[in-house]
Amino acid sequence: MRIVILGAAAGGGFPQWNCNCGGCRRARAGDPAAKPRTQSSLAVSADGERWVLLNASPDLRQQILANPALHPRHGARHSPIGAVVLTNADVDHIIGLIDLREGHPFSLYATPEIQDVLAANPVFGVLNPALVSRRPLALNGPVEIDTPTGPSGLSVEMFPVPGKVALFLESEGMRLDQETGHTVGLELRANGRRVVYVPGCARVSDALFNRMHGADVVFFDGTVWHDDEMQAAGVGTKTGRRMGHLPIAGPDGSLAALQHLRAGRKILIHINNTNPILLDDSPERAALAAAGWEVAEDGREVTP
Ligand code: MLT
Ligand code: MN
Ligand code: ZN
Repeated sequence: MRIVILGAAAGGGFPQWNCNCGGCRRARAGDPAAKPRTQSSLAVSADGERWVLLNASPDLRQQILANPALHPRHGARHSPIGAVVLTNADVDHIIGLIDLREGHPFSLYATPEIQDVLAANPVFGVLNPALVSRRPLALNGPVEIDTPTGPSGLSVEMFPVPGKVALFLESEGMRLDQETGHTVGLELRANGRRVVYVPGCARVSDALFNRMHGADVVFFDGTVWHDDEMQAAGVGTKTGRRMGHLPIAGPDGSLAALQHLRAGRKILIHINNTNPILLDDSPERAALAAAGWEVAEDGREVTP
């Protein structure tokens, strides 16, 4: 199995277009210890021929250009992208679907809840239904990912992760850590390898811990270091938890909850631009490394 990190940042990317926080300023200035990152997505392949996108970010066009594995190879029109799998319906995970118009066939896997969100937004009608097959996928059952040119060789299982609906569907009084089809994690298997991808998570349940335990690679929600870091940086009023993302630090954070997690590699992904772990020289980065966690970088290939 090959995995390419297309985008390691959370919604907004790093630097974010309108953000003047310390990290974004360093990234904009070209500081080598503050590497820019595009928005949240992975590309996965079992055979190196057919690729599956895990989420489709608003930066997808740029991500495809930057990664030769995703360039056209045969004939006048071609793309190795044969399927897209979504973990929620947030803007940073669905807008890239619009880049995939232009008459290219692929399979689109998501829970019925997420498929309904796409179906209710007519702009996604730019994906020609004769070419793009939308496949609702039930939770907790592995399926072989199929592409228009044949089986991908990858199996995926969607499982519920404590979370919420997409930001643009929020309502008064909604729960922030419910396990529904609106926020899921993915368990991928190919060639005897097992990878778990959880880019958004409000709480580490026992079931989630057990799902990740023993995997060859775990990609986990690294949105914020401190729950209130956006307020502290003066860039926003929301906490990480309000956004459906548990913080990394603190007694209730992911670092503590996953202290005993055993996995071949443990990589934080979907990282907000205010998070100090984006800075290679920060003490927070050093603390993570000491605990065995890596920080995702765009363009890195991970081979489980
Ligand atoms: C999130 O992960 O909280 C969302 O991407 C927020 C957003 O869509 O802006
Ligand atoms: Mn997001
Ligand atoms: Zn910023």
